[in-house]
Amino acid sequence: MSKQRVLSGVQPTGNLHLGNYLGAIRNWVEIQDQYDNFFCVVDLHAITVPHDPKTLADDTYKIAALYLACGIDLQYSTIFVQSHVTAHSELTWLLNCITPLNWLERMIQFKEKAIKQGENVSVGLLDYPVLMAADILLYDADKVPVGEDQKQHLELTRDIAARVNDKFGKKKEPVLKIPDPLIRTEGARVMSLTDGTKKMSKSDPSEMSRISLLDSPDEIKKKIKRCKTDPIKGLVFDDPQRPECHNLLSLYQILAGKTKQEVATECQDMGWGQFKPLLTEVTIEALKPIQDKYKEIMDNKDYLNSVLQEGKAKAEEVANTTLSRVKDALGYLPSL
Ligand code: AMP
Ligand code: TRP
Repeated sequence: MSKQRVLSGVQPTGNLHLGNYLGAIRNWVEIQDQYDNFFCVVDLHAITVPHDPKTLADDTYKIAALYLACGIDLQYSTIFVQSHVTAHSELTWLLNCITPLNWLERMIQFKEKAIKQGENVSVGLLDYPVLMAADILLYDADKVPVGEDQKQHLELTRDIAARVNDKFGKKKEPVLKIPDPLIRTEGARVMSLTDGTKKMSKSDPSEMSRISLLDSPDEIKKKIKRCKTDPIKGLVFDDPQRPECHNLLSLYQILAGKTKQEVATECQDMGWGQFKPLLTEVTIEALKPIQDKYKEIMDNKDYLNSVLQEGKAKAEEVANTTLSRVKDALGYLPSL
């Protein structure tokens, strides 16, 4: 039996942080040998909010290099750039025309980002989830490993696929495969270091709110030293009054590779002065091999280009086949 397909992606906007790593990429790496995987750098999504043309190409390289540095293995996985495969834009248009506007207006991420943008909201920002649906559906993905914040977009993708199948599929022959989200409980929602009730995010104006995968040991030390805590001694998980405490303990648990019970016992009598150096140490240790490998890859652009070129070819083959199937179902005159 052939392997099931996985597709996921990250936007090339700024550096990846611990939330991206623990919520998404680490999980891709863990399951990659069981699936046929496609991981894209979603650069079309990156321009749904105002962007800087001077940094877009370099940010795209950076994310691709970080995928490899985090352990994405080309034996199992294909890495490519979304804008290099034009089928993503084309399927988005087709899906746009069958997606009801009010489905998009309900999206939480759109509402949050739109508030931040003020008057400057583009049509692209509203359409962002349809582009994401096209990314997924083009590859007939069975599973989509993402952080918890993307759950609603995955539900929308399923609804769009079901609608296409309903309107244009023949009885037993669906046009599009309906994908399942793959959301791990641990690390699915890493919170900000400056506010344990907000998710760690690339768009937070404060660098102190997140640990980037490329932060130096000194930066990591400084950020953990200054991060928000509380005055209570004895550190515990799951106390709704202590969101920062839960978040920092969870980070420690995942990065140290311990069980929740082990960490609960180890930290139950600790104060922050004792805990913070431990968290600092495991974070630096966990990121060091990623950073070393990242530098090596970024120093070899020829290699990186060859990875992306090969990725584009493999992705195009699958994507173009699906696109033709959809156009055919919609009744288009085949290209002459
Ligand atoms: P983005 O940075 O928005 O391109 O997100 C890329 C991936 O990282 C997606 O799968 C997100 O769900 C995941 N992600 C982003 N922020 C977090 C967070 N704070 N905690 C867990 N996962 C996250
Ligand atoms: N919207 C996702 C995020 O911000 C990124 C993304 C775009 C994605 N296309 C995708 C994730 C397809 C999974 C599958 O996190």
